[in-house]
Amino acid sequence: MAILPTPGLSTRIYNWVDLVGEVVPLGTSVPQDGNLKIGDRVAARCVLGSHATYIVLPYEDLIRIALDDDPIKIGALPLNYMTAWGMLKHSGVKLSPGSTILIGAASGGLGTAVAQLVNAFKMDIRMIGTCSTSKFEYISSLGIELTDRKAPDVVAPLLRLTNGEGVNVAYDGVCSEQSLKSSLAATRADVGKVVVFEVMGNIDADGSGVVRTTQEIFAERLQPPRITFYALETSFYNKAEISEFHDIVKKVRNGELDPVVSKLMRLSQAREAHGLLKSGSSVRGKMMFVVDAELAAHYCIWTILCGNGDFFRGRKLHGKLWMNIVSHNLSERSLSFLSLQTRIGLLSSILFFFILFFEVMSMCLIIYRRGI
Ligand SMILES: NC(=O)c1ccc[n+]([C@@H]2O[C@H](COP(=O)([O-])OP(=O)(O)OC[C@H]3O[C@@H](n4cnc5c(N)ncnc54)[C@H](OP(=O)(O)O)[C@@H]3O)[C@@H](O)[C@H]2O)c1
Repeated sequence: MAILPTPGLSTRIYNWVDLVGEVVPLGTSVPQDGNLKIGDRVAARCVLGSHATYIVLPYEDLIRIALDDDPIKIGALPLNYMTAWGMLKHSGVKLSPGSTILIGAASGGLGTAVAQLVNAFKMDIRMIGTCSTSKFEYISSLGIELTDRKAPDVVAPLLRLTNGEGVNVAYDGVCSEQSLKSSLAATRADVGKVVVFEVMGNIDADGSGVVRTTQEIFAERLQPPRITFYALETSFYNKAEISEFHDIVKKVRNGELDPVVSKLMRLSQAREAHGLLKSGSSVRGKMMFVVDAELAAHYCIWTILCGNGDFFRGRKLHGKLWMNIVSHNLSERSLSFLSLQTRIGLLSSILFFFILFFEVMSMCLIIYRRGI
């Protein structure tokens, strides 16, 4: 989810991006070639509106996944992990093994994704990251070396870490004059590159709007080939990237990539979620919403009855689960309400079978006695 301060509009746009869901009906324009069927589990990266229980999307935008894929883990991938992949592979920089990168805002959803992909695909890239000191432990756990983004001099410690050489590529999510100056100074002299992935420095301090438009800032500050911008194309589904998406999914399936989803919330907790994002203090990895908790719980119970799933841990929720995903991370895992739902479901199921058992036994007893 992104909260976009929108120039010229008093209302801000709340941009709900990723989703995992199930195909319910198919429109008439969908080819009848069997590639997409009712009941298929799909992931998607919408531009708007993935927080609805039902959403109408062009069939080309749906990425079919397996029925037993973990919807939480796969749902984390379309925006952040595909953007992170693009930053590493398609942003115009060549990162050969042994390269060093600097990840700005390393603790966030995107920074986490970059680090996890580097590790999962064994890219042999050294990672240094900037973040708040409170998140140092988290960042270290991702294999990233640290620098305090709020230190008076950010560049000197970075250069010390690289024996004065600087990094090959610096990823910058702020794009202010100051941050670009620091990022460039942290790269190798004359050849190091800065890839901008966002213009966070453009947002008013109170989050109510933008200081200047992104276009104005880019016109002034990007300096190709050394300072460029990368964004994930909204239509990546139709391009070569789709096979890369499936490669990433394979890593999740075989356990080599475990996307960090630090909080799972109900849609009714959206206000709280927005507050947490705004404060930023507890942001780590990605945060997700279950859009329709009843439906989700219902399908989890279905899963339990089929004897398929780790429902007690509440993490690997095989089964039909409708949720939408927010592209930000928070500190604590909060899966408890789903565990509660599934536990209630299990207890009800046990009770149901217990009553059924006694009913059948009583019937048998009555028949037996009448028979006598
Ligand atoms: N280009 C693309 O295609 C693309 C795709 C996805 C997302 N994005 C953008 O990339 C940005 C990061 O996404 P995300 O999902 O990682 O966000 P996120 O999970 O909310 O993380 C943002 C992180 O940025 C750090 N931060 C906050 N204010 C900062 C500042 N003024 N200077 C430096 N760091 C700051 C915070 O970490 P600390 O507290 O540790 O500093 C926070 O953890 C967002 O603005 C998002 O819109 C771009």
